Amino acid sequence: MPGLTLGDTIPDLEADSTHGIIKLYDIIDDSWAIIFSHPGDFTPVCTTELGKMAAYAKEFEKRGVKLVGLSCDDVQSHKEWIKDIEAFNPGCKVTYPILADPNREIIKQLNMVDPDEKDSSGNQLPSRALHIVGPDKKVKLSFLYPASTGRNMDEVVRVLESLQKAGKHKVATPANWKPGDPVVIAPTVSNEQAKEMFPQGFETADLPSMKDYLRFTKV
Ligand code: BEZ
Repeated sequence: MPGLTLGDTIPDLEADSTHGIIKLYDIIDDSWAIIFSHPGDFTPVCTTELGKMAAYAKEFEKRGVKLVGLSCDDVQSHKEWIKDIEAFNPGCKVTYPILADPNREIIKQLNMVDPDEKDSSGNQLPSRALHIVGPDKKVKLSFLYPASTGRNMDEVVRVLESLQKAGKHKVATPANWKPGDPVVIAPTVSNEQAKEMFPQGFETADLPSMKDYLRFTKV
């Protein structure tokens, strides 16, 4: 199924939400944004996920990221559901907007449809999709999970840090990287350039090929 993917510009959708009618670009402005969908209100995994997102809201705010949730039910239902989410996750307030999508128009435009999940009337449901969008409104990274698998917010923070570091320093993050670990220098950077760009120094892995492409530094 074709749809919004890496590098695509997200549409400037107008939608009803728990914060009233909003336009996506007005919310995002010049910031990073995370747009995350949920199969439905008053469902168990979604209740835990929205609560965890609320618990991590400060982490995202520190990194200059706006949060936008989406579930396919209407705004009145979302507002009732927020009471459950906050009760189940004590101390957490859902301060981010949750978009309503009763006609499944938004999930189609944002490539968030789960082809395997339908409600009791046979309507399609959202997957657990999550797009990280850059200040240029382009999709930088997406998660696509089924209804049965809740997302890990530590992983969302981890990949966001990776994207922000890569954007700032011409580096990439290796397998199992965590914030604070060494990063690798992008292959497009020559050794000469690397010496200037990374005055703190870098280490080159000694490989059988004798090619010096695996270079670690700290940023
Ligand atoms: C849940 O959030 O728990 C859920 C939602 C739809 C289908 C299965 C699980």
